[in-house]
Amino acid sequence: MSKLLIKGGRPLCGEVEIKAAKNAVLPILAATLLTEDRCEILNVPRITDVTNMMRIMRGLGSRVALEGEVLSVDNRDATGCSVPTDLAKELRSSFFLLGPMLAKTKRAAVAYPGGCDIGVRPIDIHLKGLCEMGVAIEESHGIIYCDGTRLHGADLVLDFPSVGATENLMMAAVLAKGKTRITGAAKEPEIVDLQDFLVSMGAKVAGAGGDRIEIEGVTKLHGSVYTPIPDRIVAGTLLIAAAACGGDVTVSRVCPDHLDALLFKLNKSSCVPRVNGDKITLKCDSRPRHFDRLETQPYPGFPTDLQSQMMVMMCVSEGTSMIVENIFETRYRIVRELTKMGARITVRDRTAVIRGVRSLEGASVVAGDLRGGAALVIAGLGAEGYTTVDDVCHIERGYDRIESTFALLGGEIERIG
Ligand code: UD1
Repeated sequence: MSKLLIKGGRPLCGEVEIKAAKNAVLPILAATLLTEDRCEILNVPRITDVTNMMRIMRGLGSRVALEGEVLSVDNRDATGCSVPTDLAKELRSSFFLLGPMLAKTKRAAVAYPGGCDIGVRPIDIHLKGLCEMGVAIEESHGIIYCDGTRLHGADLVLDFPSVGATENLMMAAVLAKGKTRITGAAKEPEIVDLQDFLVSMGAKVAGAGGDRIEIEGVTKLHGSVYTPIPDRIVAGTLLIAAAACGGDVTVSRVCPDHLDALLFKLNKSSCVPRVNGDKITLKCDSRPRHFDRLETQPYPGFPTDLQSQMMVMMCVSEGTSMIVENIFETRYRIVRELTKMGARITVRDRTAVIRGVRSLEGASVVAGDLRGGAALVIAGLGAEGYTTVDDVCHIERGYDRIESTFALLGGEIERIG
């Protein structure tokens, strides 16, 4: 299995153009199942979550190809309605194929989903919503079998604004008979992007980005050529890296509004980000100040997907900082790895207290999940001496050749093995 070898201690300087967001591309790719026409998704990154989703779609009969940055999909023969267990386990997003498969073929079988091992990740909100839309659901040996012959619109109230459940239910509703209202919906920019894609296919959806989404079922959707929103988490990772390692980094082709929660926090830490159109620049030539408290929340709160990266910045900030993780309970597995590098962190339940040290030291560490893995790369780039990051496959799920991106910024990083 390949590793990253990093020689730390060099500031990061330069500009990186950000590609489409993984968390936008995946549901949009699932939504292409809702039409028989060809679709094209543009500016797509080469990451394994996308290639695994393509494999699942091929298993359903879809003709899907990624050429350059263009993902073309032809679902004329995609009549399959079950996702193989091994692939479903690799990719949690496979679960939101349920909605479009039910809308299209009225039947679906999906194994309990996988993805990052960052907590229990139940699917009760998805299933409750589908039940209320008339779907009959049975579970046997870890597979969920759904019968959607009676699929209809419904008034749904989500107990928690789950991103995946909101997307799944939106996709089930666009071709269902009647009107669906999703109250308590997730408000993430990726939800708005899915709405925009569905509307571009002829669906009647409104309200995404707010608490209530309204969908009027239609009988048919058509193809679309679509550019998803830029990846706010990749952009945020690079900005935090500049703050933690020092330097002058610009991320371009981003939507700065989507990063408001991060920019607000960085503003308080002595490295002030500058926004100019679709670019954000962060210049940092002194040790960052501590953060009193950083709490992860559903959007527009601080994203859980940037929490581990911020923890690394706090490790080298002046003073003591605190994190409260409210979304995924086991995001703190990275703490053990950071401790090997000299970080001083104590964790109790959902709270981590981080006492800043002047510098981390290189060590051999293991990526345990996607965002935690990216955070370890930042830690290595800022540390004294050499760091190796093992199990790079986790990072490849969401970052398109992370070593090339950081090398472009002047980081000494290479892949070995
Ligand atoms: C999505 C993102 C992921 C991000 C997360 C939170 C994708 C492909 N992934 O994941 O990167 O970290 O949003 O912003 O878009 N929950 C339940 N029951 C459910 C569903 C969720 O209890 O049926 C809980 C989860 O355990 C978790 C919380 O709700 O504690 C948030 O999960 P959710 O918003 O569904 O995240 P994902 O869609 O899995």
